[in-house]
Amino acid sequence: MVSLRNDTAEKIAHCEDAVHRSIATHSIRAERPLDEVLGDIQQTANLPLHRATTLPPEAYTSDAFYQWEVGHLFKPEWLCLAHVSQVPTAGDFLALDLLGEPLVVVHGKDDIVRVLSSTCPHRGMDIMPPGFGHEGHGTAEATGQPGCGHTRLFLCPYHAWTYELDGRLKACPEMQQAEGFTRDEIGLREFRSEIWNGFVFVNLDGAADPLAGRLAEMNADFGQWNPAGMKIVIQREWDCPFNWKVLVENFMESYHHLGAHAKTLQPMMPARDTWNEQERQLYVRCHLPFKDAVLEGLGAREHPFGFPTIGGLDESKKRESGLFLIHPNFLAFVQPDRIVWYRVEPLGPNRMKLLTTMLVPEETAGLPEFGTMLERETPLFFEFHLEDMEMCTAIQRGMSALGAQRGRLSHLEMSIWLIQRYLAARARGSWPTLDRDAAPGQRSMNQTGLT
Ligand code: FES
Ligand SMILES: [Fe+2]
Repeated sequence: MVSLRNDTAEKIAHCEDAVHRSIATHSIRAERPLDEVLGDIQQTANLPLHRATTLPPEAYTSDAFYQWEVGHLFKPEWLCLAHVSQVPTAGDFLALDLLGEPLVVVHGKDDIVRVLSSTCPHRGMDIMPPGFGHEGHGTAEATGQPGCGHTRLFLCPYHAWTYELDGRLKACPEMQQAEGFTRDEIGLREFRSEIWNGFVFVNLDGAADPLAGRLAEMNADFGQWNPAGMKIVIQREWDCPFNWKVLVENFMESYHHLGAHAKTLQPMMPARDTWNEQERQLYVRCHLPFKDAVLEGLGAREHPFGFPTIGGLDESKKRESGLFLIHPNFLAFVQPDRIVWYRVEPLGPNRMKLLTTMLVPEETAGLPEFGTMLERETPLFFEFHLEDMEMCTAIQRGMSALGAQRGRLSHLEMSIWLIQRYLAARARGSWPTLDRDAAPGQRSMNQTGLT
């Protein structure tokens, strides 16, 4: 675990305090019925980018709309839960609630990573309640990272039934008189999962098309970082008093470098130079070029970006940062030496949980001087996130306000418009979501170096 400098720790404490003080505001504004809100979103998403506006505020505050999102976006899609480096060896597991569904990602003795329900099939106990690792969980031990632990088997603390790491019931005391009870037929439910580039995704309704096939194009790009060969070196969970889209939109547009990150990101990656690739069915891709003068200055350092630059990246990727969104909850900020991955866990219209992480190649993490490098890189990792936390918390207050208005978007906010088009396609029941001509990118492909 990386140690934080005092000033960074103080800023985090200040942010957490502000979050706890922030009241989850319930709007006193009259909210329209769901079908009107969905109709409004359809019209909004039909506007061309140069006439684009923000979504109606109900999209960020309404219970009914949130429930619609759960049913139409989250349950039928692939949701990212973990990176394989969080469960590197047999017996390692990660417990989390996603949309109120208690889940455990576990590395089995057969080396398969599975996503199991942690709901006991006896009387419904969550076998991995928050704070597991206390007595009563058999061999399970918390490892200190959010939700992570290690065990030989799972023990339900209620009546002591035990389960193998693949979910099969192993033992259950005093059940010999239960007629027709067949132990072999009982186990923790397994959800459909897929590992793509080292990230573990789950599909809760079990009916989504396989993920890898739908991300082949992104694989040729994102895969250059070799994320499967990386490991998480910083991770932290945050309680967030805002709607999940407030965070996703904020993450994906770089127009706000001008304000929120005026001193941190704007000097390196000016908002004006950022641009979006063409519309894709399942993901959004943005480029954030470094200023030439910044690159020249960095070029003099042994490791221009802080850690060794990743081999295998196209030259164009060594001159910029980048953003990826896989709809709806996978966010990655890439730099030539690292990936910053965010896991978005919606909890309701005005609440979510967030895991922020930094990943570097295993070889980087194994360098003798890695500790010093990480210490140097840690403050900025928290700094710009704290700036975003402050913005997102204040945006949610605005969404609930009587004074809320629909705003016009800059061309630098193209990602927000693409997210609207994704939402509208799902509201039309369209699957795949690109049921019309894809919007063109903001630069031609031969300028991107990606051809
Ligand atoms: S609820 Fe799990 S053993 Fe009874
Ligand atoms: Fe930001």
